[in-house]
Amino acid sequence: MEPVDVVGFEGLWSPAAPDPDEVRVVPLPASRQQEAVDLVCERLPHTTRGEAGWHFDAPEVFDGLASVEAVDRHGGMLGVGFTGHPRFAPDGRAFQRVVVAREHEGRGIGRALRQALLERLPDATTDLVTGTFDDEPRSLEVAAHWGFGVEEHAIESQLDLADLPTPAAPPGVTLHDVPDLVFDDAEAVERMLLTSQTNPEAEQGWVFDLARLRALVSDNETPVCVVARVDGAPAAITFGGVSGATLMIAYSGVAPDHRGRGLMTLVKQRAHLSARAVGATVSRTANEEHNRGIRRINEALGYVVHSGVYRMSQKLAG
Ligand SMILES: CC(C)(COP(=O)(O)OP(=O)(O)OC[C@H]1O[C@@H](n2cnc3c(N)ncnc32)[C@H](O)[C@@H]1OP(=O)(O)O)[C@@H](O)C(=O)NCCC(=O)NCCS
Repeated sequence: MEPVDVVGFEGLWSPAAPDPDEVRVVPLPASRQQEAVDLVCERLPHTTRGEAGWHFDAPEVFDGLASVEAVDRHGGMLGVGFTGHPRFAPDGRAFQRVVVAREHEGRGIGRALRQALLERLPDATTDLVTGTFDDEPRSLEVAAHWGFGVEEHAIESQLDLADLPTPAAPPGVTLHDVPDLVFDDAEAVERMLLTSQTNPEAEQGWVFDLARLRALVSDNETPVCVVARVDGAPAAITFGGVSGATLMIAYSGVAPDHRGRGLMTLVKQRAHLSARAVGATVSRTANEEHNRGIRRINEALGYVVHSGVYRMSQKLAG
């Protein structure tokens, strides 16, 4: 039988596997990476080009990266899949990202992409992590069907960096830009960083020491780090990277014995100024929905919620 052309398919779900003559999953050539980013951004409008293409722009941040595409018999791109181990992630965790163009959903293309990724996982993978936007109930159902469980609901918000206040540090408090994370008292800073991690993500194994924070920044990102000290002792930190015109805040924390004095607001205000000085026009962050402390601070700083993500994980058998 002549294979049918899938372009223009109505998008109804069929339990049948795609005809391999009609749809193939193949490694994504470098020459089609931008098209893959286009597909992801069109399918997932909350995603920025920087987020969608992070693994292309920053391959040094990942081990065992693999990218695949589903193509029709004319070579048209129907969906894409990515896997890899982020070096800042706990050992054994690899991400799995499967995105199918909206008009081709529901006919086995996601399944074929996932299968191809499972065959290309980084060495020693024990757990997969993924995410679905919270306004995508079917994607959540598919991910749950594949065996993913929700670890947290993260709220994503953004701040325009046009109009920024200058932080007013009280007596005894000093603010320091340390983008290279090199400190004379590195042990004390690391102790503060570790004790500050009372966030839900740390309980799930996502603990950052200084080395893991450094591993977060790619070669084409400008790191931003501000540390607050109280009478010289490290007390609070915020860390992120500027790529394009966006500051992505990766981690912010205050040591428990320095909480309740507004230090996080000060370090973030300073980080916003530092990011703007290296070209950022917006700052983005994501916070677990019940992490009321940081969400209240971000709201007061002017961050506006734009989306939410279910962060999910799956333990692989054996
Ligand atoms: C999630 C997504 C990748 C699914 O792609 P798709 O091509 O529509 O998926 P398929 O038709 O191949 O179905 C995938 C599986 O889900 C099952 N499924 C389909 N609809 C389902 C539903 N409503 N509830 C539960 N399972 C469902 C299918 O039976 C299939 O099972 P199998 O893999 O065990 O054979 C697609 O909707 C998408 O791109 N979403 C946005 C990105 C995203 O959120 N990705 C999920 C995280 S990786």
